[in-house]
Amino acid sequence: MDIILLGPPGAGKGTQAERLVTNRGMVQLSTGDMLRAAVREGSPIGLQAKVVMDAGELVSDAIVCALIGENLDRIENRGAIFDGFPRTLAQAEALDLLLAERGRKLSYVIELEVNEEALVDRITGRFSCASCGAPYHDRFKLPKVDDTCDVCGGHDFKRRDDDNELTVRTRLAEYRAKTQPILPFYRERGILHGVDGMGSVGEVAAAIDAILDS
Ligand code: AP5
Repeated sequence: MDIILLGPPGAGKGTQAERLVTNRGMVQLSTGDMLRAAVREGSPIGLQAKVVMDAGELVSDAIVCALIGENLDRIENRGAIFDGFPRTLAQAEALDLLLAERGRKLSYVIELEVNEEALVDRITGRFSCASCGAPYHDRFKLPKVDDTCDVCGGHDFKRRDDDNELTVRTRLAEYRAKTQPILPFYRERGILHGVDGMGSVGEVAAAIDAILDS
């Protein structure tokens, strides 16, 4: 089963994708994670993407579609969770082709519906362990022991360069202008499902499970 998790920055796409990977053996294909890996490696794509990501704008369709194609080739017959992709109509059309070429088909597109003001709070407060990546939040989830990761005991933590209020506001505006217009593309096919993303992580997870098991 291949699915898309759609929603603005901070809606909880990554949080829910991780859970589906653990519980259902699916593979998370996050273009944000792929681009951040390219930035860390200092590759030509990474250097180009960093400036755009730090500004909160969208990286070119050609770059992200190529990344998705490469990664789709590696996942064999496991189900894909597209997280943060597609973000434009051109990407949505390209995804159809990439899937058809590999004999795959989208089963569900799940839109996490959220209140934008809560998102700024969610994003500006989040950080993660620099060693194992375990996620934390200044207000909602601090490590049990000060400055010590609950999972690996590491003492270094990091924040994303684009998790500041100014950039978040641009990312939200990009979502409204370029990503929301693709919703009708999937609604017309009858595969778009809305989920209230303002509930607890467990409540959102249960709503997604109900759709995938329907
Ligand atoms: P990307 O990495 O995709 O970031 P994003 O879409 O802005 O989404 P986030 O990762 O910030 O949020 P999320 O929805 O995954 O929420 P999370 O689960 O972390 O993209 C970054 C940049 O890369 C883009 O701006 C763009 O430049 C570029 N890019 C990426 N893909 C692209 C593409 N296809 N085309 C062009 N450019 C592209 O949750 C957020 C926080 O909330 C966490 O702290 C979490 O613990 C908490 N939380 C989650 N769920 C709940 C809940 N139910 N209740 C309370 N707290 C919750």
